[in-house]
Amino acid sequence: MKNTVIPLWILVLSSVVLASDLEKEGLFKDGAIADLLKDENGSHDTGNPQVKFNMRTSLGLDDEGCFIHLGKASLQECGFNATAKTFFVIHGWTMSGMFESWLYDLVFALQKREQDANVIVVDWLTLAHRLYPDAVNNTRIVGHDIAKLLEWLKKELTLPLENVHMIGYSLGAHVAGFAGTFVQGTVGRITGLDPAGPMFEGVESDHRLSPDDADFVDVLHTYTREALGVSIGIQQPVGHIDIYPNGGDFQPGCGLSEMLSTMAYGGIGDVVKCEHERSVHLFVDSLLNKDHKSFAYQCTDPGRFKKGICLSCRKNRCNNLGYNAKKMRKRRSCKMYLKTRADTPFGGYHYQMKMHVFSKTDAEDIDPTLHVKLYGASNDSEDILVELPGKLGLNFTNTFLAFTEEDIGDLLKIKLTWEDTSKSWSTFFKSWLTWRNPAQDQVLMVRRIRVKCGETQKKFTFCAQDPDLTKISPGNEINFLKCRDGWEVKPRKRLHM
Ligand SMILES: *[C@@H]1O[C@H](CO)[C@@H](O)[C@H](O)[C@H]1NC(C)=O
Ligand SMILES: *[C@@H]1O[C@H](CO)[C@@H](O)[C@H](O)[C@H]1NC(C)=O
Ligand SMILES: *[C@@H]1O[C@H](CO)[C@@H](O)[C@H](O)[C@H]1NC(C)=O
Ligand SMILES: *[C@@H]1O[C@H](CO)[C@@H](O)[C@H](O)[C@H]1NC(C)=O
Ligand SMILES: *[C@@H]1O[C@H](CO)[C@@H](O)[C@H](O)[C@H]1NC(C)=O
Repeated sequence: MKNTVIPLWILVLSSVVLASDLEKEGLFKDGAIADLLKDENGSHDTGNPQVKFNMRTSLGLDDEGCFIHLGKASLQECGFNATAKTFFVIHGWTMSGMFESWLYDLVFALQKREQDANVIVVDWLTLAHRLYPDAVNNTRIVGHDIAKLLEWLKKELTLPLENVHMIGYSLGAHVAGFAGTFVQGTVGRITGLDPAGPMFEGVESDHRLSPDDADFVDVLHTYTREALGVSIGIQQPVGHIDIYPNGGDFQPGCGLSEMLSTMAYGGIGDVVKCEHERSVHLFVDSLLNKDHKSFAYQCTDPGRFKKGICLSCRKNRCNNLGYNAKKMRKRRSCKMYLKTRADTPFGGYHYQMKMHVFSKTDAEDIDPTLHVKLYGASNDSEDILVELPGKLGLNFTNTFLAFTEEDIGDLLKIKLTWEDTSKSWSTFFKSWLTWRNPAQDQVLMVRRIRVKCGETQKKFTFCAQDPDLTKISPGNEINFLKCRDGWEVKPRKRLHM
């Protein structure tokens, strides 16, 4: 393992410890920061030279772009189009003091998608290349500078603020929040890409990104796992919609073993970076693959989502992830979830499955490992493990979520298999201890599976292909074919007298 990856943790954590010391001294109390920032009045009026606004003028990465200087006639030279959309791309805390590659990916994707748009990179590297608490302190200053630039653009070009979309990553998300707070009027949209957590989690809404900072605030949370009491990405919802891909937790393709296999070296720091930065790549994906939309679904918690309960699109309960998100302003913040693939295009397909499992005996120790395989009109899925929050319920309707990476087209058939684990050691010991053949009385019955597809919102009922073959035991399978549109059980025909 390369040890250059370690400082990220150490820096963040030691910075946070330092910050909490400062907090004790009252430096971060309300008003204290505001007082400190008052000094900034004079030196910042003509634009802080430490914050640069770089307008991208061509798709080339090596192109220097054009710098916009507040109060100077640089706008025409830069080709600023006052009637087009204006994007601000705002980076976060930096250890290297240089732009990271994701920034170029994001800028490129914005230019590809919105050809007329003004894409401005907010370069605050010198203020971000600091100890974390100092960089946090600077987010307010940078927000101020962006607000000033916006005021000027508004005055100079009558730029409509509703055409402004600020996209901030990590600390940059809070910079965007401050800019939205300080500007007179309301900017159209702020997208927070895994907004930074340390020193922002739980603070009042005017000290972090919040829904009042823009007409529409949408947020992606990709690293909300806690270590030593802090999480790199903020856990709490801070926008109008807050999407937690894969529960906002482990991102597929970012595991330590996966990182080790795809790179010559790796470590915990790479996992952190991979998961934190996944928010950016999901957004880039939404810009570039507009025909392959990913849907996120409102749910009260990730556990319920995992059970497949929350795949509804009624009353705005689902939305597109990333750039294609529909503006939604609910009074209460709205947490949304989805599963993603490990790579671009990240979107997949969600299926809610409900299956009533009958058991003739009341064998309590039945704990089968079940898989489903979905056969579609255009492709088939892999074997998908049936993940249940607890044990399989007997004489009970079990609900679970199945996710396919490929678009299989119209679902035609489902195969349910019971993995035979009787050869495994643990089962062997169990049967030896209980003096019983494990497979002997392990018989369950499933007559039908009800399915709802999240992406199409269609519901179907699948019935056992052969009505006499509804029993399943270890090593066996049952096949189900589509037998009904919808879930309703057809009422029995009544005889009219
Ligand atoms: C801030 O700027 C205003 C106007 O330029 C000036 O009157 C005021 O004294 C300044 N305040 C501080 C604290 O420098
Ligand atoms: C400016 O943007 C508008 C709106 O996207 C577009 O119609 C117009 O052609 C652009 N003007 C120039 C000079 O590119
Ligand atoms: C916050 O920023 C101001 C202005 O740059 C600076 O004077 C002050 O020392 C900073 N405070 C902390 C706690 O870093
Ligand atoms: C399920 O129901 C059947 C028939 O009503 C009963 O014989 C059996 O004991 C039940 N099984 C369990 C696990 O409750
Ligand atoms: C079908 O799915 C497999 C993976 O499950 C994939 O490798 C293959 O490319 C897909 N085929 C088509 C035609 O989409």
